[in-house]
Amino acid sequence: MMRPMKLAGSQLMFGEGCLEHLKTLKGSKAMIVTGGSSMRKSGILQKVIDYLKEANIESDVFSGVEPDPLFSTVINGANKMKEYGPDIIIGLGGGSAMDAAKAMWIYYENEEFKTLQDILPPNEFPKLREKAYLVCIPSTSGSASEVSRSIVITEDATHTKFGVGNMEMMPDIAICDPLVTATMPGKITAETGMDALTHALEALVSKRANYLSDIFSQAAIKDIVQYLPKAFEDGENLEYREKMLNASFTAGLAFTNVSLGIVHSMAHTLGSLFGLAHGLLDAVLLPYVMEFNSKDGNAREKYNKIATEIKGGSDLVSIVKELNNEVNIPACLSELIPDDKSFNEKMELMIDMALADGCTKTNPIIPTRDELRDLYLYAYNGRR
Ligand SMILES: [Fe+2]
Repeated sequence: MMRPMKLAGSQLMFGEGCLEHLKTLKGSKAMIVTGGSSMRKSGILQKVIDYLKEANIESDVFSGVEPDPLFSTVINGANKMKEYGPDIIIGLGGGSAMDAAKAMWIYYENEEFKTLQDILPPNEFPKLREKAYLVCIPSTSGSASEVSRSIVITEDATHTKFGVGNMEMMPDIAICDPLVTATMPGKITAETGMDALTHALEALVSKRANYLSDIFSQAAIKDIVQYLPKAFEDGENLEYREKMLNASFTAGLAFTNVSLGIVHSMAHTLGSLFGLAHGLLDAVLLPYVMEFNSKDGNAREKYNKIATEIKGGSDLVSIVKELNNEVNIPACLSELIPDDKSFNEKMELMIDMALADGCTKTNPIIPTRDELRDLYLYAYNGRR
């Protein structure tokens, strides 16, 4: 049976200049959670603080969230929130900063929670919003955490990534202003943009895909194929930035409702074991998994329909490969993981982890162990 659709929180703002929406927020104290120094350097952090001031909201900043946020960072942030007592939490940055803000919010609201296991099944996910509501402002066009119900948090000791999804974590307000993304470097533009394309393409062929998620996925795929190379070449062009940011959250509206597939299962696994960026892994794996998924008639039909609409007949796998090439993404995993011995030694673990990943169950074909092994090897060696 169909699952209920939820399209973003209570407010979804997009378009150039919509950051000003912060002036209309209600509350008294905000904690802004952000990553390294890019938001400070670009002046966006100061803008956020100033707009909040205009709404009579004081603010404090928790900065330094690392890529693939660690659980210890989540606890540090939650402790800072317990001292400061915000009634608004603002995640400002890429997927890592927004995911960390969501996770800190859980531990701030539930002071009795101490461990990562407290929010993992079989434990019941807690209610939020007793103390604060959540605003997310993306600085990349990729993760769509601003409209998603999920987070990925890394366990300190094992460096294992844990994905947690619950509707409680849907941000109340998403503010998607292309000006916030304008200073993103080319490499990040490419990797996060390919993450967004992977969200759209996996949602499109998900076993839970529906009429509405298909509309979002298709729109996002077409815009990303057209505008990612342009945004990569000319990052200062706000029209291209806006197209990419809109496509990213539109893909998010689809995948947060119908889930993903094995590109994500394999990327989560390789990210945990080899410490590589999520979007980069998605990008490299995507064409190999699409070739595999094309064995499913429904998936093949959907790919072909989009390919015809984009380029009048060429196949979608080739379109994705060409796109990767245009934005300087390597064609195979061996370029990212040169140590093939270590890659092969971890193979059985890599298969276990990908099969156990929550994204596997909605892939159009559930792969066997042998099929997953082949997929890893094809992606490693660049073979069809
Ligand atoms: Fe992703």
